[in-house]
Parts: sequence; structure tokens; C-alpha cells
Amino acid sequence: MSHASGGIAILDYGSQTAQLIARRVRELGVYAALLPYTTTVEQAHGAVPDLRGVILSGGPPSAYEAGAPRLPDWVLASELPVLGICYGMQLVTLAFGGEVAPAAQHEYGMTPITIVKPGKLFAGLETTQTVWMSHGDRIERPPDGFDVLARSDNAPFAAIGHLERGVFGVQFHPEVVHTEHGAAMLRNFVIGVCNAKTGWTPENFIDASVQAIREQVGAGRVLLGMSGGVDSAVAGALIHRAVGSQLVPVFVNHGMLRQGEADAVVQMGRSLNWNLVAVDATEDFLDRLRGVTDPEEKRVIIGTMFAEVFEREASRQGQLDWLAQGTIYPDVIESAGTGRPGARRIKSHHNVGGLPDRLKDRLVEPLRDLFKDEVRAVGSLLGLPDTVVWRQPFPGPGLSVRCVGQVTWERLEVLRAADFVFLDELRAAGVMDSIAQAFAVLLPVRSVGVMGDNRTYDEVIVLRAVTTTDFMTANWARLDHDLLARISSRIVNEVKGVNRVMYDISTKPPATIEWE
Ligand code: XMP
Repeated sequence: MSHASGGIAILDYGSQTAQLIARRVRELGVYAALLPYTTTVEQAHGAVPDLRGVILSGGPPSAYEAGAPRLPDWVLASELPVLGICYGMQLVTLAFGGEVAPAAQHEYGMTPITIVKPGKLFAGLETTQTVWMSHGDRIERPPDGFDVLARSDNAPFAAIGHLERGVFGVQFHPEVVHTEHGAAMLRNFVIGVCNAKTGWTPENFIDASVQAIREQVGAGRVLLGMSGGVDSAVAGALIHRAVGSQLVPVFVNHGMLRQGEADAVVQMGRSLNWNLVAVDATEDFLDRLRGVTDPEEKRVIIGTMFAEVFEREASRQGQLDWLAQGTIYPDVIESAGTGRPGARRIKSHHNVGGLPDRLKDRLVEPLRDLFKDEVRAVGSLLGLPDTVVWRQPFPGPGLSVRCVGQVTWERLEVLRAADFVFLDELRAAGVMDSIAQAFAVLLPVRSVGVMGDNRTYDEVIVLRAVTTTDFMTANWARLDHDLLARISSRIVNEVKGVNRVMYDISTKPPATIEWE
């Protein structure tokens, strides 16, 4: 079974938590696709072949304003069950003839609600629930035929439902963890009301994907750019399982990976019996970067070089028929531009720019439907090492954007050594799981120090460790002071060329996670 076996369409009205709805539904073992609210009925059935229900996300606008995003006609015409969340609830209310108006008092944060009529939506739940509210509008009058299912102090219609039709609206967000029993509510809707099947598992995904890859590529050879990151590795593992040595993975080492990382990629390729083509282009990259200090210039040079080296290696490999990429679902969602106009666009999602032209229309993207956590689950099941599966995000331009100022082999080695100590200590302290990203940065700033009886005049290492879920905002990790002391002492003692260590206590925004 795969996503072809049925699921839920989520129409995205621009809520920050729209992706989370899809993830929560998938955690129930049911396939969910996040689609723009302009999706046609054909597109919806194309994305979710056996469509069982529709969820309408929240969103920033007010449904009663002119030009506000609307509910597509097909949603109600299809007679599928519908769950409207926040803005989605307003759309349901208006579509059935109810009234929406600005709330006298806005409700944000954790709010108690009282369930007055459970229906299928709240079946099995306690009468009093804590939910996460975030809205400025509220339902003034529910449409005819709708029952009030729950109320809060400020929202007399916190949840409504047309029980016969299976159409519901909730003013709060069941998808966020702050809604205590949100997962149970979504389960009630998805399984209880929509009767969706629970076949969305990593095992089933692998079986279906292997089959699909075989059908797609036939006897052709598949080129894959490997970066050392989890997405390209998992894509490679799937393709290798499907077509074995027809996979031609190419790993370009630009010399700006972390300590031991390039060897680990080669080692992984060997242990998995892939015919990995490893190219060490360190010197070429460093030559082109000589004297360059501007961060964006570094990125452009590295992107261009990657394309050149990759293309050169690809042309050495003889006949190639397909190009594989580790594109994942958030990349697809972002480039489809779901949600409100002007929603942020992501950075280029792959590290190999300038794809061989002849293969641009012949893409194999086996992870297009997976969220990151699903990619990791599939990778584990396919036997990839934990170091790859659980690798933290690492920028395509690598350490070049953490080596502030000139990128030379010597400075990269200093940075690598300090970075290694930092990560080593975080691992030993058992705090790695609570940190989204941790790394060292080398500054082109010298300061005076004293070592033994000698004066030193060396560069500065900055330690950066952040907590975040989406990498759009981030907080600095509250590391234990004794741990920081140990790290600092080890770095100045073990890493030649560094005599001072700083800890970055900036949040994003206004800072970014990386220094460049
Ligand atoms: P910032 O620094 O923008 O980083 O707060 C957010 C996330 O993006 C990663 N990052 C990059 N990834 N190429 C990439 O592939 C890049 O040029 C790049 N710059 C930043 C960063 O590591 C963090 O996870």
C-alpha cells in the first residue's frame, strides 16, 4: 500500500501550521497531501487518488473581507467529510449560510473549552479540554443544520458540526502540541469520520517506491549527486534497492566538509556496495575561492564549481538516462507556492546546481512525498548509518560560510578541529538530541592571549548551538556552563591558532543561524 491507497487533502490557506496538519495526519498512518486552496477537483484526486476527506487549514485573512481566499466549489459538491480549522471554520460557516465577525476579544494561546456535544469529532474525550487558540474572528451564528459541539469563554461556537454531512469547524488548532488531545481529535475525524485507511508506513512506502522506480527507469542508468546529507543518501538507497548497479552516485568533495565527513560518505558507499564515484575537487574549489571574503560571492563560486565538476564527472560515466534528486515534500510544497501569495520561498533545495541539460526532463525524485522525519524513518529501514540518517542540516557551501573571511586550507583545518571538539563534547554530554544545529565559526579577528610564558596572537572561535523546529526562527541553546568551560578549554589547548572562544547568544531573528 502507498499513498495511492487513499487519504486526506489539506487545503492550505497560509497558516504557519498547515504543514503540521499534514504531518499529524500522516502520523496516524494516513496519507495527506497539502495543496493550494486553488486546487481543482482533478488536481486533488490526482494528488490523493482515493480521497476520503478534506481539511481546510487556518490562515491570516478574514473570510468576510473582499478578495479573501474562498472555498473551492468542489469541496462541498463532492460530499466528502470536511474539517475546517480556524479560517477553514469560517469558510465552512459562510458556505453554509452562517455569520462570521471580528471577535470583541482576540484569543491567543492555551484556552479551556467545554465539549457540549461530542459527536464523532470529540468521541472518547473528556468534557473539558485545553486547546490552542489563535484567532481574531469568530463565528457569530452557526449555519442551519449545524450543532454547537464545544464552547470557550470568548467563543461560544468553538467547534461546530453538521453531524449527518460530516462537516466540522473548529476555532482552535488541533495540529499543534499545545492542544492536549489534538491528535485524538484528528484521528476521530480522519479515521472515525472519513474512514481513511492506515497504510502510510515506511515499509509500504519502500515497497511502492521500489516498484515505481523500476517502472520509471527500466534498464536505464541513474545519475545521483551525493552531498553527504540525508536526502540524497536516502534517495540513493531507494534507487539502489530498486535497480542496483544502474545507480551511478557521484560525490564531489569540495574540501569544506566537517572532519571525517568525506571519508564517511565514501565508506558508506563502499559498505552498501554502491559504485560510488568520489571526486576530490578540494584544490579546484580552494583555488577559485582564493582571496574571496564576500559570503554571497563564496556561494556563487561554489555553486558554479559544483555544476562544472559534477557535469565533467557525469560525462565520464558514459550513457546516463536519468537524473535522481533528493527533493523532499517541503521543497515541493514551497515551490508549488501553496498558501497566501507572497509566502516565503526556500533556498535552492539541492546542492548540485546546473544539472546536466540533457537530463533535466528525466528526473527521478523518490522522496517528493516525504517530510524530513519520514525520510529519516525510510533511511533507517534501508540500513543507512545513524550518522547519515540523523545528520543535522549542513549548508551546501559547507564550512566556507563558517570560515568568515578568507577560505584557506589552513583556516579550514583550524575550524574543522574546533568544530569536532564542540560536537564531540555535546555528544558526550548527551545534549545533542535537544539541539537542532551546532557548529563552530572561525572569525578573522586576532586577539592577544598568554600561553605558558608566551604571548599569543590568534584567531577567535565562536560556538553556535540553536534550538528550532523550522529553522525560520531559532533560539540559542542554554548550554551548561561547565560544559562550555570544558569545550573552551579543549579548543584552546587542542587547536593550534585559536586562543579565545565565544558563545553566540543571538536569536534568529534578528541574527541568522549561520554567520554568513
Ligand atoms: P540561516 O543562516 O539562514 O540558516 O538562519 C537557516 C538554515 O539554512 C541553512 N543554510 C543553508 N543551506 N545552502 C544550504 O544548503 C546555504 O547556502 C545555506 N545557508 C544557510 C543553515 O545551515 C540553517 O540550517
